[in-house]
Amino acid sequence: MKSILGIDLGGSSIKAGAVDPSCARVVGETQSVATPPGAPLEATASALAALVAAFPQCTGPVGLAFPAVVSHGITRTAANVDHAWIGTDAAALLTAAAGRPGFVVNDADAAGVAEMRVGAGRGERGVVMMLTFGTGIGSALFVDGRLWPNTELGHLSIGGREAEHIASARVRTEEGLDWPMWCERVNCVLEAYHALFWPDVFIIGGGVSERFEEYAGLLRSRARIVPAGLRHAAGVVGAALYAADSARG
Ligand code: BGC
Repeated sequence: MKSILGIDLGGSSIKAGAVDPSCARVVGETQSVATPPGAPLEATASALAALVAAFPQCTGPVGLAFPAVVSHGITRTAANVDHAWIGTDAAALLTAAAGRPGFVVNDADAAGVAEMRVGAGRGERGVVMMLTFGTGIGSALFVDGRLWPNTELGHLSIGGREAEHIASARVRTEEGLDWPMWCERVNCVLEAYHALFWPDVFIIGGGVSERFEEYAGLLRSRARIVPAGLRHAAGVVGAALYAADSARG
């Protein structure tokens, strides 16, 4: 089967990879470019076009995982990107940059879909909450495998502060938190989420999931806690799966 290009736009880099949708795996190497500071529209469109050009073998639709609420291709929020994205037809922007059909999905939802299909959530019934720890905190909520999109739990107020301002990976770096200090904060966030949604399992994703073994023993919840099976590639894979599914209609 032809591979589909998946792109994951993060706070510091934009990562792309060719994904075989039949097995939901990245084929070959991923490539990345630095995210233009603040991800302004034009510079981001150019970066996306450059990444598309770097994968000539992917000729089908293109998927983009984007860190905002995405509803029918329109980006509706912009917590960590240029505010010009609010109300922008991001799918049209991607389509123009790529020169072929582009589909845009929330980054955590993309990662969650990939995890449910081939990663840590595979075969999980009940309530699964995927969390991505990066510049912000992304969330994807599944009930018996079905996604409730755009849950945006990184903005849940906990003790008067947004969850992602308490425990994102960026906050860990900026405040120089060691694993015990950061995990204490993550545990508060998990407890707040658990009290509201009672997930059976939390899947921990984002760049920090690459180092899961270093802090796994410090995380606590009444739910099971597992690392993302695809680690940081989940967004790229999920974006491609979303494009493949959307193009099929
Ligand atoms: C955004 C979400 C995104 C998350 C992770 C939050 O600030 O509002 O849409 O999923 O960051 O990137």
